[in-house]
Amino acid sequence: MNTRIVLTKRPSGWVDESCFAVQDCAEPVGGPGDVLLEAIYLSTDPYLRGRMNAGPSYAPGFEIGKPIVSRVVARVIASGNSRFAVGDVVWGFLDWALRSVVPRGEGLHKIDTTLGRISHAVSVLGMPGLTAWVGAIEIGQPAPGDTAYISSAAGTVGQLAGQFAKRAGARVVGSAGGDDKVDFLRDRCGFDAAFNYKTGSIDEALAEHCPQGLDLYFDNVGGSTLEAALRHARVGARIPVCGMISAYNEVDDPGIKGLQALLTKRIAMTGFIIYDHVHKLAAYQARVAPWLRSGELVFQEDIVQGIEQAPAALIGMMKGEAIGKRLVQVAAE
Ligand SMILES: NC(=O)c1ccc[n+]([C@@H]2O[C@H](COP(=O)([O-])OP(=O)(O)OC[C@H]3O[C@@H](n4cnc5c(N)ncnc54)[C@H](OP(=O)(O)O)[C@@H]3O)[C@@H](O)[C@H]2O)c1
Repeated sequence: MNTRIVLTKRPSGWVDESCFAVQDCAEPVGGPGDVLLEAIYLSTDPYLRGRMNAGPSYAPGFEIGKPIVSRVVARVIASGNSRFAVGDVVWGFLDWALRSVVPRGEGLHKIDTTLGRISHAVSVLGMPGLTAWVGAIEIGQPAPGDTAYISSAAGTVGQLAGQFAKRAGARVVGSAGGDDKVDFLRDRCGFDAAFNYKTGSIDEALAEHCPQGLDLYFDNVGGSTLEAALRHARVGARIPVCGMISAYNEVDDPGIKGLQALLTKRIAMTGFIIYDHVHKLAAYQARVAPWLRSGELVFQEDIVQGIEQAPAALIGMMKGEAIGKRLVQVAAE
């Protein structure tokens, strides 16, 4: 028997486990040209929360009664397709199920297992890593002498955005929701300073750690964190808007105060979606994989075991349980 995770109802406000069901279901059957997969790692990502809503977003909404879909690392266990052999490890946007069939293998990407761990294909060497690069480097344009502030800095994207800005010569400050996360940023990721936004005022922390103000704010959070960053931004600051996770589980949009700073301080605030940058992935991997291998770049994963734990793992990720990239492992590598 196969097992899958389906969405049973649309959340209003904070998503909880009653929105999901763990279901037994029939084993998938492939036809000619199809590829049969065994899932190994399910990726949990904040944008999945938006896909649980009915309204349109940049990715299509999930259907009630149908499986959650995210980036999944999987092994080919049967193939009627000359592009994929049994034993190949691939990633694709797949159902949260132990086994699935992909018609004609469309949308599957073979993972180059020489580059890093196979899980890295959906994290540091995949789209989340490229997200950190595009936001921190291409949009953020850090230069020696700059001060860069990263929110949700101990998360998947944040830990990398900070390290990339640091490599470009900036002084890097991060915020995160736990003292263990703050230690991780300072001691493992080489951030110049870090603070716990849950135990003090963000304004006071930015005044203390960024006394000259911010040249770059990498926004993962939105809300009051963005408002504080606008108050501490310098003239000519750049704000790559990567995400606004503080709003994803809110029913109403409370808005952002202080946008006049964009005008008075000539701030460039730029939203971006990584799907527009996929063509840069191979060059990004070639640049970053050697840093990862040599240990110059740190990347932390948080792996939860078992498909039945996937809903709790996803909710917990949004609540800040994990340091680094949260994955759900559903089969041995
Ligand atoms: N633009 C794009 O194409 C793109 C691509 C990938 C990701 N993103 C965005 O990038 C951001 C980070 O994604 P990720 O995958 O790296 O997730 P992540 O940072 O690994 O995990 C989410 C983190 O958000 C933090 N958080 C939750 N609620 C918060 C709040 N109210 N205030 C401050 N922090 C809060 C939690 O950490 P704490 O313990 O620190 O609170 C949690 O660990 C998200 O906003 C996501 O939507 C955008």
